[in-house]
Amino acid sequence: MNAFESLGLKHDGRALWVLDQTQLPDAEVWLDGSDPAVMVGLIKRLAVRGAPLIGVAAAASLATFAHRGASASEYAAACAALRAARPTAVNLMWAMDRMKAASTPVTEAQAIFEEDVRLCEGMAIRGAALIQDGEGILTHCNTGGLATAGIGTALGVIRRAHEQGKHIHVYADETRPLLQGGRLTTWELQKLGIPSTLITDSMAALLMRDGKVQRVLVGADRVAANGDFANKVGTYGVAVQARYHGVPFHPVAPFSTVDLACPNGAAIPIELRDATEVRGYGKLRWAPEAMPTWNPSFDVTPVDLVTSLVLDRSVYSASALKAGALAKS
Ligand code: MRU
Repeated sequence: MNAFESLGLKHDGRALWVLDQTQLPDAEVWLDGSDPAVMVGLIKRLAVRGAPLIGVAAAASLATFAHRGASASEYAAACAALRAARPTAVNLMWAMDRMKAASTPVTEAQAIFEEDVRLCEGMAIRGAALIQDGEGILTHCNTGGLATAGIGTALGVIRRAHEQGKHIHVYADETRPLLQGGRLTTWELQKLGIPSTLITDSMAALLMRDGKVQRVLVGADRVAANGDFANKVGTYGVAVQARYHGVPFHPVAPFSTVDLACPNGAAIPIELRDATEVRGYGKLRWAPEAMPTWNPSFDVTPVDLVTSLVLDRSVYSASALKAGALAKS
């Protein structure tokens, strides 16, 4: 395989490595994800995460497995196991369906990686054009280079606006329960030198009331045909707050996140995760051990709360989405 490298994924020609996102920002530890059975575990425990990246990483693991001589039946079983590793981000299913149909898995995985880099550029160009000088921008979860093979979705847009010299200030939601905003988005923002402030999720409404937020940019894990979309839990609440305060709200996603087979948000499968993630974090537990919890990893934001959807190839208003623009594109 040809070597390739992104912020959270790299192939040295022999093995595939993923940056263990559970250890950021304190330690940069690369784990071998060449074996698809290992990659399934890395995806499940969010060592590798973000809708586009899990598709790219799963494809690269499968290609490495094929390159090392996996039989057709071993390849098919690994493909099915990877496809089922997490249920909400459709990029994983999209990438695995491509790998299943591919006659040359190595070439296909490399094409998926390179395509994702280009899709990020498309979103960045279109999204950055919306951003005005001086804006405060709120974002949720992590949607940057750690979540994609390229510069990111929502965070890629923010990065491009910053590189264009626009004076922006980013407010990063910490993103309970697994703190992708607090641990990962902050890490990326500091590396990029983008002026930014970390807030807890419960502070976003107050920040909007105080006039500090002129735009909200978030990613998506699956966009339904009518424009409803699933993203990290908490996104729906941010969208409600943005509407109340008259703040424009934009999901940013590549076409590989659009699922035309889902007519609306109600059809999007939502991952439910372990109670321990709500009762505490890591080794720290603050709730009683047997406390019942509810831990949906994603929520669905209805298209009515969307100002526009930034895709790699176009920007769609909520009214265009409701009129079926995605199906026609
Ligand atoms: O559970 P995660 O960390 O994989 O969730 C990630 C998100 O919800 C992102 O916002 C989404 O994947 C879009 S980012 C490219």
